[in-house]
Amino acid sequence: MKGLILSGGKGTRLRPFTYTGTKQLVPVANKPVLFYAIEDLVEAGISNIGIIISPETGEQVKAAVGDGARFGARVDYILQDAPKGIAHGVKIARDYVGADKFILFLGDNFIRDGIVPQVNAFRDGAMNAQIILYKLDDPSSMGVAILDGDGRVTRLVEKPKQFVSPYGVIGIYMFDHNVFEAVNAIKPSARGELEITDTIQYLIDQKLNVRAHLLTGGWIDTGKMADILEANRLVLDVLVAKNEGQVDSASVIEGRVTLQPGAVVVNSTIRGPAIIGERTRIENAYVGPYTSIYHDCQLRNCEIENSVVLEQSAIVDAPARIADSLIGRHTEIARAGGRTKTLKMMIGDYSKVGI
Ligand code: G1P
Repeated sequence: MKGLILSGGKGTRLRPFTYTGTKQLVPVANKPVLFYAIEDLVEAGISNIGIIISPETGEQVKAAVGDGARFGARVDYILQDAPKGIAHGVKIARDYVGADKFILFLGDNFIRDGIVPQVNAFRDGAMNAQIILYKLDDPSSMGVAILDGDGRVTRLVEKPKQFVSPYGVIGIYMFDHNVFEAVNAIKPSARGELEITDTIQYLIDQKLNVRAHLLTGGWIDTGKMADILEANRLVLDVLVAKNEGQVDSASVIEGRVTLQPGAVVVNSTIRGPAIIGERTRIENAYVGPYTSIYHDCQLRNCEIENSVVLEQSAIVDAPARIADSLIGRHTEIARAGGRTKTLKMMIGDYSKVGI
């Protein structure tokens, strides 16, 4: 079996981060979200992986992932000239996939417990397709599945305006070769894309065996800031503490904290779960639970919790605790006087904020 990861798209819901960065490379616990997808596939025994890239962000993805060797995989790249839909991505990967069954993984989807049982069931079973469902009170921003009593999918609706079922279809799909007939048969939707939902509906209409697996562990589509913070919490919850950095005797490390190589902590308190990136310096500061500070950052005279800070950023002399924040790359937050308040922000790459 092969793996196919979609890593294109414009990432409009994550602006301004995605003006200069790729949404699939936003870090979750100091690792790009895309890397979790690759690792999930490798863990499920799939080491031939095609990544669909876009002209805008393809080079960033290639630079980050490389040839896949460090994941124990072989990664090939397939260029999608424009964002014409998930099913269009499948269409252009036909030669790459060949006659094999394959797993399609949307590169911004994050699943906490991996995909080993689902992949095994698909590999061994007589299904033509398998989708993974996640029960939600309001799945209206997703494709939604309607099931019969036997776990068979009878109908799919993309982003239904009215409630039809609580089962959202997450961005991990398993197909056999029949899917290529489907993606060639369907027409673009109202949003001008070849929809994966229409593709699966076509398979159902052909009376093929489309099965659903109901997910019980955590799943997140990391398309929005709140979702990234939530994915970050999910990963930090199972973080194994590891100190590869330096901590001075005036500092206190509590709970599960990972210091990556070259991280330096001076006269500070770090309360886990938290991760401090390579060459990042924390001085006279408090880093609270569920915080990930990426590589090459400087934090001095500040307090921060439940936040994600991207690479090469500085937070210095902040007069209030920063919480629930996603802070972009190369940003600078520094004191500008004024009253103490809790800060809640979404700051884009290369921004500068005076507080
Ligand atoms: C896409 C699919 C949708 C699916 C979702 C999962 O939505 O069209 O069916 O539920 O991914 O993340 P989009 O991200 O294009 O809005």
